[in-house]
Amino acid sequence: MDQSSQTSRVLSGMRPTGRLHLGHYHGVLKNWVELQHQHECFFFVADWHALTTHYDDPSMIPSSIWDMVIDWLAAGVDHESSTLFVQSLVPEHAELHLLLSMITPLGWLERVPSYKDQQEKLKEKNLATYGFLGYPLLQSADILIYRAAQVPVGEDQVAHVELTREIARRFNHIYGREPGFEEKAEAARKKMGKKAAKQFDQLRRAYQGQGDDEALVTGHELLEKQQNISVDERERLLGYLEGSGRQILTEPQPLLTKASKMPGLDGQKMSKSYGNTLSLREDLGDVETMIKRMPTDTNRVRRNDPGDPEKCPVWQFHLVYSDDATKQWVQEGCRSAGIGCLDCKAPVIEAVVAELKPIQARAAEFEAQPELVQRIIREGSEKARIVAQETMREVRQSMSLDLS
Ligand code: TRP
Ligand code: SF4
Repeated sequence: MDQSSQTSRVLSGMRPTGRLHLGHYHGVLKNWVELQHQHECFFFVADWHALTTHYDDPSMIPSSIWDMVIDWLAAGVDHESSTLFVQSLVPEHAELHLLLSMITPLGWLERVPSYKDQQEKLKEKNLATYGFLGYPLLQSADILIYRAAQVPVGEDQVAHVELTREIARRFNHIYGREPGFEEKAEAARKKMGKKAAKQFDQLRRAYQGQGDDEALVTGHELLEKQQNISVDERERLLGYLEGSGRQILTEPQPLLTKASKMPGLDGQKMSKSYGNTLSLREDLGDVETMIKRMPTDTNRVRRNDPGDPEKCPVWQFHLVYSDDATKQWVQEGCRSAGIGCLDCKAPVIEAVVAELKPIQARAAEFEAQPELVQRIIREGSEKARIVAQETMREVRQSMSLDLS
């Protein structure tokens, strides 16, 4: 991956929930598969995050990790195109979490909407813990330690990325100041060469003088392209561009994943807690049975009763899987009672089975080689660790913790 990919480094994580279902596939994994070909990607299993809610019963976490990683690989997330790792195998996340906790006002954490929401939702658990309050800050450490520019997340996680931006800003504000900053930045600017230095000046003026956001983006790109300057110098110039101090940590952007259109078998959102999922490794015979048993428009009691696709979860599946001709056939056939519900479900069954078949074939290959899956994660974690350690070196230095 070339240097400019740093401007667009992508990072995302999932808590280990065990086997994944079609909702995860359509909502998240297909997106990851696409992103891995466009950007430098880091995808990881957030096992410490699982502990914040499952501290009383962690025994399932290891098997959930392996099941989930197998499903990632089976869905086409590729360890050659992206770096796949497990959070707890990169202990630097914990160190950054600790250091960031020093500068994080309690109010910022208490204000994150998921804090109260989840406590309400998981009432049977005692979530009045230090770890649970720190959940979004740990997530900030996950993101900032890779200096990720983009974080693909669902709507529910956007507030966590926003917090991460605030933390990065605060960190840079406190620790990015250094004696002689302007002189050092000027020296770095000159090192880029005449042409780049001049362009830098114009962009800096456009951004600071006129608030031109595009100039800021172009400025970031310009700096990423420079071969002659060191990491420190790049950070200074980033800050100089924006009129702040050295930018040690990068403010990430959320990359909002469109809500999955994949409904559950009952038409509600597909979710394990509703018991309406089709797992990626569901036996294909069971897939057929489960779709055949799906509820339909309740007005179609008898075969001759006309129905309304809008009131039927099977129609939602057609929206995901069927071409226009098939959709038209459903609309007309349902409303005129020209087709029966089993007829209507046949193409859905066929499409889901066709989608799952290659995924299951790959899953079976990885299931048969647990050492391979473990190696992928071990090697990915080592690769991630090198990047994380580089960030930590600078973080420690800027916080006067460089005692060696
Ligand atoms: N909190 C995320 C979730 O529940 C998982 C997560 C942990 C994450 N760390 C992250 C997502 C960093 C994106 C980036 O889905
Ligand atoms: Fe639903 Fe199809 Fe039956 Fe209409 S014909 S009620 S869309 S399953």
